[in-house]
Amino acid sequence: MYQFPKDFLWGAATSAPQSEGAALLDGKSPSTWDKWFEMEPELFYDGVGPKDTSNTYYCYKEDVANMKAMHLNSFRTSIAWTRLLPDGKTLNRKAVRFYRNYFTELIENGIEPIVNLFHFDMPWWLMEKGGWEARESVEHFAYYARVAFEQFGDLVKKWATFNEPLVHIECGYFGNAHWPKVRDFKRALQVGYHTLLAHAKAVAEYRKSIHGDGKIAIILNLSPVYAKSEAKADQEAAQWADLLYIRSFLDVAVYGRFPKELVTLLKEADLLPVTAQNDKEIFANNTVDFLGCNYYQPLRVQAPKNAHYPISEPRDLFNGYDWPQKRINPHRGWEIYPTGLYDIAMRLKNSYQNIPWFVSENGMGVSDEERFTNSEGVIEDTYRIAFIKEHLIALQRAINDGSPCFGYHLWTFADCWSWLNAYKNRYGYYRVELDDHFKRTPKSSSFWMADVILNNGFNH
Ligand code: NOJ
Repeated sequence: MYQFPKDFLWGAATSAPQSEGAALLDGKSPSTWDKWFEMEPELFYDGVGPKDTSNTYYCYKEDVANMKAMHLNSFRTSIAWTRLLPDGKTLNRKAVRFYRNYFTELIENGIEPIVNLFHFDMPWWLMEKGGWEARESVEHFAYYARVAFEQFGDLVKKWATFNEPLVHIECGYFGNAHWPKVRDFKRALQVGYHTLLAHAKAVAEYRKSIHGDGKIAIILNLSPVYAKSEAKADQEAAQWADLLYIRSFLDVAVYGRFPKELVTLLKEADLLPVTAQNDKEIFANNTVDFLGCNYYQPLRVQAPKNAHYPISEPRDLFNGYDWPQKRINPHRGWEIYPTGLYDIAMRLKNSYQNIPWFVSENGMGVSDEERFTNSEGVIEDTYRIAFIKEHLIALQRAINDGSPCFGYHLWTFADCWSWLNAYKNRYGYYRVELDDHFKRTPKSSSFWMADVILNNGFNH
């Protein structure tokens, strides 16, 4: 029997921009996603944009009833900054009503809301001023955080500031999957710096808030880095990837400072971001109470030819070397490696002061899932059950070895919209039918998971 600790949080995660719909209704202003879709709809899979996400704005009660039927005791979503404060200053009463109703519905059904503030959805009006490149975005975010704590802090006792901050930096400033899709390492570093400063300021706001008696976190995508070989070049490449992709976020969140090695390297290369005098104290005084860890797959690193660090094209490190035991999710192309979850769990215990944490995302994206529908009309997602099981086994081993993990959230509850990929790969316990009024139907994994939750564990 794989048994989990008492009061373990079993749940699922989504975000406002990926699930709510009503993208430009009831006073909400556009985020970069809404605008980008207006400008280049052809880039979005099947032409499906943010206004057609899974309609939760209207049917959250149905989702909550389904969560309850599955015995979930926690659920993460985010607030849309553009809904709460459409122009950055004016409070949108309709948004307050929506989120209060949503969170209350969860609580009344025994499901703890975990609420995140920023899930890649930068307000367009702020992007026009430079987005996270502009120092003023830090103050705007701190204000938004303060308002969110004031309006919902009596209901919500677990908060997160950012989800996967690496992603909007990486995809927006050295990739092309997020707006403004530029390739500029120096700008990416400035964006990263302001993002983390905004995180620390939001934590400060929480501690000052009259409702600040809960806990606050950041949610990081912690993909452990593995070098291709023992060769010096590969080891150096892996170290650099670890520094940039993992430690720069974790060290700030938990220790309130950037890794010295990173600062030295950036200084030598004249790449240090612009900072202000008191920033250091802001970071130092505002570390997190707990962490969310999103884990899908590891980073496999091999040294590019003649690499010098800091390397200005960090993605060159991940040219996907093969290794004999590599297993791939055939429907999505991502590696399946549950041991990575064990490794990161032990790292949090051993190198990050045993900080309490939970798996804030894990999951399997699958394309054309309707082909697995059985004669009763249920999608038999046995591949997802196998995936979750393997990861839970790795997680349970880490917990037995002392890692203070208090929960597991699948991405996602009801199939939701995945940015440029829209509904190409689906991740939910529930199927959502876009062509049939967003109708929800449970997949096999939801029945399997309901049993796991009831038993707080499972047999092999
Ligand atoms: C990470 C992100 O938080 C979420 O927005 C995304 O859709 C999932 N992973 C699946 O890729």
